[in-house]
Amino acid sequence: MTVSPRDATDVLLIGGGVASVRCARALRKEGFDGRIVLVGEEPIPPYNRPPLSKELLREDLPDDLVLAEPERWYERRDVELRTGRRVVELDLDRRTAVLDDSTAIRFDRCLLATGAEPRKLSVPGGEHALLLRTLADARRLRVAATRAGAGARVVVVGGGFIGLEAASSLASLGLRPTVVELGERLWSSSLGSKLSEWAMGVLGDAGVTVRLGAAVTRVEPGAAWIGEERLAAAFVVAGIGVRPRDRLAADAGLDVSDGVLTDAAHRTSHPAVWAAGDVARRAGRRIEHWHAAREGGERAARSMLGLEPGADPSPWVFSEVAGHAIDVIGAVDSWTDERWLRDGVLAYADGERLIGLAILDGAMPVEMARAMVTVGNARDPALAAT
Ligand code: APR
Repeated sequence: MTVSPRDATDVLLIGGGVASVRCARALRKEGFDGRIVLVGEEPIPPYNRPPLSKELLREDLPDDLVLAEPERWYERRDVELRTGRRVVELDLDRRTAVLDDSTAIRFDRCLLATGAEPRKLSVPGGEHALLLRTLADARRLRVAATRAGAGARVVVVGGGFIGLEAASSLASLGLRPTVVELGERLWSSSLGSKLSEWAMGVLGDAGVTVRLGAAVTRVEPGAAWIGEERLAAAFVVAGIGVRPRDRLAADAGLDVSDGVLTDAAHRTSHPAVWAAGDVARRAGRRIEHWHAAREGGERAARSMLGLEPGADPSPWVFSEVAGHAIDVIGAVDSWTDERWLRDGVLAYADGERLIGLAILDGAMPVEMARAMVTVGNARDPALAAT
């Protein structure tokens, strides 16, 4: 394959999400003046996904509102955008990426930020279930909700972040959602029984029915089935988790295991390639959230420039349930103990070690919570006193 000099770049950012755009931003901020090309398969520039299941479902809002940066930002920072294009092959020996229009780009350094894709509902008729990952998905779901109209029953499969946000938004439009969650608690128990019970209460008040420990076994026009039980559903939407889009990396020979493996500085097993965002398993942990993707893109940029990657605050996930804000701080996957510290602040601990906090409706400033969890992994006096 021959690659013209015009198609050689210093940095290639693969993936049109916030990890890539924050990487570009940090590179420029650090004074990097080489060529930067960003390839993304969606037709619009990188955008923020968190509003898709919230404001964008509830209201008619323009696309611009969710853009990570306005289009002119790319011109001003001299970041070349190639939207509507997918990288289909990576040749790491030649440091070359092949695009779906058969053009090729040679790079000096590359960031893999290909994100994640939603799991499909694999039951008969499951292909009719709407998914919610892209702006186009959010538009489709809003059209379906508007068509169904207030009072319509709908089924939401999955009582995790996406399912509960979608159900909350649909309920606020006057629809009557039933959430069907496989686990015995919401968020498949990852956030414990106390937050799940609180959420069940506020969802019930908002008109959302929740079925725990239940699985949708079939979908057909106008209904979803739980075994022999038929639930009327103008439409079905599924939020049952995501899978990292790591195939490109695996095919290129990079080390991959449920995500592209990287060290703390986002370096993959190839010296010219970094990874960040939902696709990256950084130092053993893959975090699928907006903050992690943004912060990861920035750290990867500094690492590409040979600088210290910089601050590494505790993970922070935010969500909404029935009009209430939830901030979850810390890697809350290995706690043994959950308790309310005070109204609206739930602590997760491993023995006496504070490892996470869930904060309702801003009951504690997030920065304070992040600091507490970071240190705290040291012993927390408030927790010890309760
Ligand atoms: N039927 C019912 N529930 C199911 C099924 C099923 N067949 N399969 C999985 N679930 C449930 C899980 O038990 C879990 O509670 O779906 C939920 C999925 O929750 P998440 O893993 O949080 O995934 P999702 O809600 O799809 O969000 C995907 O998007 O914005 C990000 O941070 C968010 O990482 C999250 C990602």
